[in-house]
Amino acid sequence: MKSILDRFRLDEQVAIVTGSGRGIGAATAIAMADAGADVVVSARTVSDLEQVAEQVRERGRRALVVECDVLDEEQRRALVDRTVQEFGRLDVLVNNAGGSGPSPALDTSVEDFEAVFRFNVSSAFSLSCLSAPRMVETAGKGAIVNISSVAGRFPQPGFVSYGVGKAALDFMTRSLAQDFAPRVRANAIAVGSTLTSALENFMNDDLERAMLANTPLSRLGQPEDVAACVLFLASPAADYVTGEIYGVNGGVTRSPVEMPRASF
Ligand SMILES: NC(=O)c1ccc[n+]([C@@H]2O[C@H](COP(=O)([O-])OP(=O)(O)OC[C@H]3O[C@@H](n4cnc5c(N)ncnc54)[C@H](OP(=O)(O)O)[C@@H]3O)[C@@H](O)[C@H]2O)c1
Repeated sequence: MKSILDRFRLDEQVAIVTGSGRGIGAATAIAMADAGADVVVSARTVSDLEQVAEQVRERGRRALVVECDVLDEEQRRALVDRTVQEFGRLDVLVNNAGGSGPSPALDTSVEDFEAVFRFNVSSAFSLSCLSAPRMVETAGKGAIVNISSVAGRFPQPGFVSYGVGKAALDFMTRSLAQDFAPRVRANAIAVGSTLTSALENFMNDDLERAMLANTPLSRLGQPEDVAACVLFLASPAADYVTGEIYGVNGGVTRSPVEMPRASF
């Protein structure tokens, strides 16, 4: 009998990971390669992507660097087209590019609110709809994994745009799982505070203490903690899993950070 561990492998498969120049996306691209996939690494900074591509190649897999700003429809289309042209198939899409810092509600313009929505939701929606038919056409089936956040689960002051964006991403994931079944699975991960450059942008000692105090597993996440879950959800090990939002967040049951409320 074959080992159950074979179901975690992605041999001969092709994965696109957006925002894979750094952080969770980079760790995910490398995890995909460790599992045997060829990987399309994409973001806006080619020098970062070249470094991640090198690590994919060191693992004996092919890497394709595609510069892509996920906010641009033409670039999203080109990302999927180039993947299929170069590798002849597409099996996995990881919608990882996204994010936003805190912004008090009363200081958030409608334009800013919509920009966060476009970055976290519309871009992933578009890439999913561009990719799913190509997955079915070239590989017979496929898997989409969306990188969401605990901010979409727990309302908290200062995170209305990001929280709404990630909550919408979660519901979009559950909806697309219904639209695309049975051929393409769609799942998401509710990530908690994870040590990447995005977090460093607003990290300080007080914030770190508060995050640790509110995190039952008493540590911050590493990008590989998330990458391991992406691998599971993308792989045949999760062949009976769709429409789920998995938590990789140290067990938080409320917001790990506290921002001030509006002062009227
Ligand atoms: N770190 C956390 O604590 C945390 C917690 C919850 C959820 N998340 C989610 O995890 C995901 C990744 O975050 P991270 O912490 O790994 O961020 P990160 O370390 O800042 O890396 C972000 C990656 O995305 C790329 N990127 C940024 N804007 C882009 C755009 N418009 N188009 C394409 N690529 C773009 C960046 O490269 P370029 O700038 O060169 O394009 C970089 O490669 C995000 O969706 C975020 O919301 C993170």
